[in-house]
Amino acid sequence: MYDTWEELEKSIENCKKCKLGDTRKNIVFGVGNKNADLMFIGEGPGADEDEQGEPFVGKAGKLMDKAFIGLGIKREEVYIANIVKCRPPQNRNPEADEATACMDYLRNQVLLVKPKIIVLLGSVALKNILGEEYGITKARGNWIEKNGIQYLPTWHPAALLRDETKKIDFWKDLKLAKKMLDEIEKNN
Ligand code: URA
Repeated sequence: MYDTWEELEKSIENCKKCKLGDTRKNIVFGVGNKNADLMFIGEGPGADEDEQGEPFVGKAGKLMDKAFIGLGIKREEVYIANIVKCRPPQNRNPEADEATACMDYLRNQVLLVKPKIIVLLGSVALKNILGEEYGITKARGNWIEKNGIQYLPTWHPAALLRDETKKIDFWKDLKLAKKMLDEIEKNN
């Protein structure tokens, strides 16, 4: 584990720890406030993210941005990262060996950011962070505390594009996260 962002960012340059390194255009490291109390973890970059090197800049990200605006969450105040930092071809789910190879980078990011709250966006984030035994349908909207961090699983924003009814849950869940964030910041 690295103590500084510089060392961590340097360590990922030209990463070939897994096969996604052969097909990516850009490594999508993560973006936002490096001291954020609130962090979001998605699955992996899509085509737009691969092009631009930034997480959640495509259609799903735009939807997330809309929810942020509605709830008074500033994108630049939170930290956003993914389970894998390179795009899986055809936007398939990251495979277990790819997620495992990439996990130390994410762990290191969490150690450096020290968020109080982590919103897990979708099943891939939930299972990789909290364990295979969790299912998103049951877990979403429920706080899970682990090692001093409050985790809140919710739908992946891309799921809202496929099923509009999930928008209500997503909104509710982000509202919960914002409420918890406000409480934490009030007590600081
Ligand atoms: N979906 C994700 O999980 N992450 C992104 O960065 C973009 C889309």
